[in-house]
Amino acid sequence: MCGIVGYAGRREAQPILLDCLKRLEYRGYDSAGIAVAGKGLQLFKSKGEIAVLESKMPRMPGTVGIAHTRWATQGKPTTENAHPLDDCSHRLAIVHNGIISNFMGLKESLVKDGHRFASETDTEVFAHLVESELKGDLVDAVSKALRQVEGTYAFAVVAADRSEIVATRRESPLVVGLGEGENFLASDVTALLKYTNRVVYIQDDEVVRVTMDSVSIRGPSGELVEREAQKITWSLEDAEKGGYPHFMLKEIFEQPDAIHDSLLGRIETLETEPFFQGDSFTSVKVVACGTSYHAGLVGKYIIEELAKIPTTVQISSEYRYSPVARESPLVVLITQSGETADTLGAAREARKRGNKTVGIANVVGSAITREVDHVIYTRAGPEIGVAATKTFATQLAALYLLAMDLGVQNRVLTAQAKRSITGSLRNLPRAVQDVLNQAHLIEALANKYSGAKDMFFIGRGINYPVALEGALKTKEISYVHGEGFPAGELKHGPLALISKESPVVAIAVKDHTYERMLGNISECSARGSPVIAVAFEGDTEIAKYVDDTIRVREIPPIFAPVPIIVVLQLWAYYLAKAKGCPIDKPRNIAKTVTVE
Ligand code: M6R
Repeated sequence: MCGIVGYAGRREAQPILLDCLKRLEYRGYDSAGIAVAGKGLQLFKSKGEIAVLESKMPRMPGTVGIAHTRWATQGKPTTENAHPLDDCSHRLAIVHNGIISNFMGLKESLVKDGHRFASETDTEVFAHLVESELKGDLVDAVSKALRQVEGTYAFAVVAADRSEIVATRRESPLVVGLGEGENFLASDVTALLKYTNRVVYIQDDEVVRVTMDSVSIRGPSGELVEREAQKITWSLEDAEKGGYPHFMLKEIFEQPDAIHDSLLGRIETLETEPFFQGDSFTSVKVVACGTSYHAGLVGKYIIEELAKIPTTVQISSEYRYSPVARESPLVVLITQSGETADTLGAAREARKRGNKTVGIANVVGSAITREVDHVIYTRAGPEIGVAATKTFATQLAALYLLAMDLGVQNRVLTAQAKRSITGSLRNLPRAVQDVLNQAHLIEALANKYSGAKDMFFIGRGINYPVALEGALKTKEISYVHGEGFPAGELKHGPLALISKESPVVAIAVKDHTYERMLGNISECSARGSPVIAVAFEGDTEIAKYVDDTIRVREIPPIFAPVPIIVVLQLWAYYLAKAKGCPIDKPRNIAKTVTVE
């Protein structure tokens, strides 16, 4: 969703705001804008990416300001609807991430009171509400305005002739960065890493005043809140491209290390420090969105196989409104960002229904960590590319660990089985490295098929959700229409779509579904469709059935989704590259979806 930043210090605010904002561009790139307060109020905004804003804007002297990069929800992606938005007197500027759900009614009464609106956005009502309430103290005015709005938000407000930023949040991320003689605000810590690694996370309904030498937080009833700063261990380098042409490629290549870090120390300590001491569960429900949902679908197979616990998986936005009768006593919420509104809502709902909740998250201190009973961090490091890659692989790593723990608690895993699982887990980074070493081959194949408009991905069992994830990566960044199917379902409808124009990527590793997969592959090739198989090394049979083959190291099939997804990520990446797509910033998509 949108990204917001703020700066109050001794240096010129404009270049720092712009620099921080660029690191948030993955959150939206429909328009961008900046406001610098202090002497009067200077405001400049423009439609399009931050680079467009940068190329047009004048110098804006001043040491306090806010900035915004937008992913349009309410109101078209125009310059008028870009943030910051200001009030009638042009003395207040506001940036917002989220949605004000009651803005229509508020707008009507503000218009009746004589306020003039310049945009179609929901955000602008907040500028006028603060304007109406501003009698002296900006924190008071923001607090009073907040009482009138419903929805989700992170707001930051500056006013002419004031050296302060007032900000607040509800269900949208907001973090304060602490510097020496300067302080910062942002939607995400990665924006601030160049300037500081000491941060304070603002919580729902708190209002914070940030000046160059102070940060004071008020709770929902106006009480002063003391909160220790957290030290962020991610480095600036982690959040930069490091010589790769795109964040996505860098993040794909980081996977051996990311998986290693994700498992590090945990395999050994699981016995003495289990996730669930003494708990055993009769069923598990996994809840997530997008790529994290696909990780959950793979997780179902992992948990059912290793822990023998029936597991269901649901999309967060569906779970929230589904009947209580389908509950499970353990609800696992997977979210890379930890800020996805639908998943946060699902976490609250799961707790309300009396379930134990576990979050699998990547961002330390993110909102999900406050909504669940236990957190398993994926330790993937910052993921900037909009397409989730290393966070998917590390979510799987976390799910293997979780399933092992549940299996131990349920007494279904023998010591020998555990030894064999941990051995396989330790080998995963090498299996992924093998795939990365073949990137040139995958690129050549992606180039060969880059003219296709439709592409199908098929798999069976645990590799069915991997096919779904391959299709999502493909459509998300290359704009090729990718569809994932359980291979056995083709004959029930999707075969009607298969033709020589539509390549089929078939995951065909040697497991108990292999023979059936060969049958499904034949169904496709009989209709003229080119088939590209992802198969184990040493499988000599597969080449007879398909046009092209990409090989992964032979490992126990339950672990195969990890190297296979890396094949499909590279496939999507090189397809998008061949088609000249904006890989890290696909159209209409934002990395963190903080609206429902
Ligand atoms: O941060 P989350 O894991 O909760 O995000 C969920 C989805 O929005 C996300 O996985 C999305 O599908 C990815 N951009 C896909 O690559």
